[in-house]
Amino acid sequence: MTDPIFTTVFTLDNEEATVSLANRVAASLRTHRDVVERQGFNIRLTGDLGAGKTAFTRALLRALGVSGRVRSPTFELVEDYDVLDGLPFHHFDFYRFESPVEFEDAGFRDLFGPGQLTVCEWSEKAHPYLPDADLELTLTIRGLSRDVTARAASALALTVIEETL
Ligand SMILES: Nc1ncnc2c1ncn2[C@@H]1O[C@H](COP(=O)(O)OP(=O)(O)O)[C@@H](O)[C@H]1O
Ligand SMILES: [Mg+2]
Repeated sequence: MTDPIFTTVFTLDNEEATVSLANRVAASLRTHRDVVERQGFNIRLTGDLGAGKTAFTRALLRALGVSGRVRSPTFELVEDYDVLDGLPFHHFDFYRFESPVEFEDAGFRDLFGPGQLTVCEWSEKAHPYLPDADLELTLTIRGLSRDVTARAASALALTVIEETL
């Protein structure tokens, strides 16, 4: 990501707290849907296996109105959804990439940008092809709780963090 304009660290004491964080991020994105339509919004999730990247994304999708099954995209690389009545949402997991150039070959770049919401797990495996993130959440496991470092690299991401904390 480009240099963050704001960084903050907080703790999620249990899984409910992770769901609650996702609910607040979703509420903020709903409020600022017009900005997402103009600029797009890309969230990068980092952290070890089991840190809660998929759990967070599943809760975010639920809060954005997805009622069907939410599958981890580990094997498919990307799962596509429609959120907030018509916004495309792409959930990526690049864990299985053998080379970052697969990002280009698959045409994934077209799934980023104005009008699209994207959440990426294992972004580092698509570096340097993956577009910059607006918001990065780094999850660190501490038993059942998670330390989260949130970094905002765009004005909208800063607003989302402010409205979320
Ligand atoms: N505070 C928490 N936040 C998120 N997940 C948690 C938390 N505490 C325990 N968990 C558990 O950790 C696991 C996270 O798995 P997952 O979301 O698939 O991780 P990742 O996608 O980062 O590999 C789930 O089994 C979830 O129930
Ligand atoms: Mg995952």
